[in-house]
Amino acid sequence: MAMTGVLRPGHAQVRVLDLEESVRFYRDVLGLVETGRDAQGRVYFKCWDERDHHSYVIRESDRAGIDFLGFRVLDKANLDRLEAGLKAYGIATERIPAGEMLETGERVRFTLPSGHAIELYAEKTKVGNGIPLINPAPWSLQREHGIGPVRLDHALLYGPNVAEVQKIFTEVLGFYLVERVLTPDGNANAAIWLSCGQKVHDIAFAEYPEPGKLHHCSFLMESWEQVLRAGDIMSMNTVPVDIGPTRHGVTRGCTIYAWDPSGNRFETFFGGHLPYPDYETMTWTFDNFGQGLDYPQRKLHETFLTVVS
Ligand SMILES: [Fe+2]
Repeated sequence: MAMTGVLRPGHAQVRVLDLEESVRFYRDVLGLVETGRDAQGRVYFKCWDERDHHSYVIRESDRAGIDFLGFRVLDKANLDRLEAGLKAYGIATERIPAGEMLETGERVRFTLPSGHAIELYAEKTKVGNGIPLINPAPWSLQREHGIGPVRLDHALLYGPNVAEVQKIFTEVLGFYLVERVLTPDGNANAAIWLSCGQKVHDIAFAEYPEPGKLHHCSFLMESWEQVLRAGDIMSMNTVPVDIGPTRHGVTRGCTIYAWDPSGNRFETFFGGHLPYPDYETMTWTFDNFGQGLDYPQRKLHETFLTVVS
């Protein structure tokens, strides 16, 4: 499909309790590439196959969680168009100046009714993936460090007003609803999976009373075997694992959920079906949410519903 608006989740800024312990975790266990540090003390990372300067930023704080999630849009004209759409819809936006985040252009920031700060931006320095653009090798040695995911793939956010959030993403930002889980009474969506391209999801939300919570940021692996290898590396490093390795019913993706040293959940993810915008939404009833979460075990793990940062 032609992608002419929002392209992908481009960065997440996540709070950690101990910066250097977290740098060691994200660099040496998850295997991200450290690409910079700024005057605010933030540390910037990218996955080995990403071309932009960074996709994951951490800053030290006394509480874990997510500061904001940023989406890369096609160009400045689309940034202006999407900001105008948000304003026309009644959502206040602010412009964060270019350079406030390293190697990143002007960002449009707004707050969702779920309490999450979302950004759109059109410019970030392309540093490449270490592989030449002419006659490229299929991977670089950067992949062979730690778990080594390919890219930041998506995030699942918990907060109130999911129905309103769905309308903003589908009516203003050009996303479409790929899958959903109904509430127990079947009258509303308890959780939604939204795509802006042909990925099974670029962002997901679940209804939760407390605003602005992070359920997980997800990192894409290249195969199911690589997900299992990620589990080996988690165990070698005594990383606390939440769920998996297993396969989701929702999205069909293979997964492990685990926690970083600050209690921010992350996911190593592979697969999923490839939807198009004209596909009909797939629906899970709440009584089958256990299958949706963990298809082989058919188990609605308590931590999935209650533990967020
Ligand atoms: Fe996920």
